[in-house]
Order: sequence, then structure tokens, then C-alpha cells
Amino acid sequence: MLFNKNKNKAPLVDERLSHIAFIMDGNGRWAKSRGLPRKLGHKQGAIAFEKIVRECSKLGIKTVTVYAFSTENWKRPKDEVDAIMDLLADYVERAKSEDGTRYVFLGDKSILREDLRTEMEELEATSKNREYTLNIAFNYGGRAELVNAFNELVREGKTEITEDDISSHLYTRDSQDPDLIVRTANECRISNFLLWQCAYSEFYFTDVLWPDFDEKELYKAIRSFYKRKRNFGDVK
Ligand code: IPE
Ligand code: IPE
Ligand code: MG
Repeated sequence: MLFNKNKNKAPLVDERLSHIAFIMDGNGRWAKSRGLPRKLGHKQGAIAFEKIVRECSKLGIKTVTVYAFSTENWKRPKDEVDAIMDLLADYVERAKSEDGTRYVFLGDKSILREDLRTEMEELEATSKNREYTLNIAFNYGGRAELVNAFNELVREGKTEITEDDISSHLYTRDSQDPDLIVRTANECRISNFLLWQCAYSEFYFTDVLWPDFDEKELYKAIRSFYKRKRNFGDVK
């Protein structure tokens, strides 16, 4: 019931796929293969990101999470990091006029440029009652997120903690765990993304570079998801 015969047509999505996450990798290689500076790869990657986010919303997916900048990405050359910060600032500015999306930034905002941080916080506050959730992992690391959660619990005076305590202190506290995690650019690793939340996620890897990841590639990932049998440890 979930498959349209034409492979280029949008698949039907139901509650089994309510949250999809993307590790948007391969911007640098996309640029390099064209003799362009890496930052142009990020610019093209940002265009792909906006297209995919719009398409996920059209398909009826409730929550999308994207990995945009990791706690380890600060190791990169300054001009590349600056270019990524500028792309985020442009995006946040444009997102202000979007009215259907709830924006949540996952990660530590405290060390970002003050003007950018303020804009990000305002966007989160003004959009918080909307239905379609876009989590943007920026200066995000799964280990840092867990350490932050544990420290919050310590400060609250907890001496024994449950799984629910941990989940409810993560940056993703307002989202369910991802049903599907897509990683582009032919890398099969997690790179410190959603370490706690991916416990029962399905994974989809493709060698397509992120700037080339379009609606058709998204449909392929979704169709692959619907062929999986999720057991969650049970026998069915
Ligand atoms: C992903 O693309 C974007 C970020 C990590 C910010 P990359 O920049 O990692 O692209 P490759 O892996 O070098 O091709
Ligand atoms: C993961 O990609 C981070 C983002 C997509 C933002 P990286 O390119 O940083 O991952 P590694 O270093 O290849 O593992
Ligand atoms: Mg990479």
C-alpha cells in the first residue's frame, strides 16, 4: 500500500516513519571534484538541505534532524568554519519568514557568535508551537550531549537515574528517537551523532554526495526503510 509503482513518485509515508535524520556528508568532495573551494560545496549543500526539508514536510514526516556542524568540525580551517557560520546566519534570517516549522538547535550555542546565538534563540522561541519540527544539530556532539545531560541531573541532585531521565535531558528532549538515519557520501559511521537516540534507528547509507541528494534519492531511502522489519528485540 505504501509504494507507488513509479519509482520517481513520492512514496506514501505513515506513522512508522515519523522522524528522519540526515548526516549531510560530502560537501567538500562535491566541491573538490569540480575544482571549487570547499566552502562552495557547503553552499550547495545548504541548497540541498532546504529542498529536502521542504520535501519531508510535504511527505508528512513530522520531525527532521540534520547534522550541520559537529563539535569536531572546529578542527577545520578557519575560512571553512567561517563560511559555515555565515551560511547558518543566512538561513536563520530566511527562516524567520517561514511559518509552518518549529526550529530547534541541538548543541551548545554558548560558544557561537553572540549575534548568531541571539537570532537562533529568537527563532526557537517564536516557532515553538508549530507542528513540523526541524532539529538542526549545530556545534553538536553526541558525547557532549550526554555529558551535558548527566551534569544537569547531578545539579538537580539525582543520585540514581533512569533511561527516561537521560532522554529528557538531551537536546532532543522534545523529539522521539529517529526512525531512519541517512548518511550520504559513502561513509558508514556515526561520527558522534545521536549516540543515545540511534539505539533502534534504521540506517541508510548512500554514496551520493550531499549536494546531489535530491527528492529521488530521498524516495529511495524511504522505500528502503519500508522494506525493513523492525523487531526492537522482540520475535514477531
Ligand atoms: C559535510 O561535508 C559538512 C560538514 C561536515 C560541515 P564535508 O565537508 O565533511 O564533506 P567531505 O566529507 O569533506 O567531502
Ligand atoms: C559528520 O561529517 C558531521 C556533519 C555532517 C556535520 P564529518 O565529515 O565531520 O565526519 P567524519 O570526520 O568524516 O567522520
Ligand atoms: Mg565529511
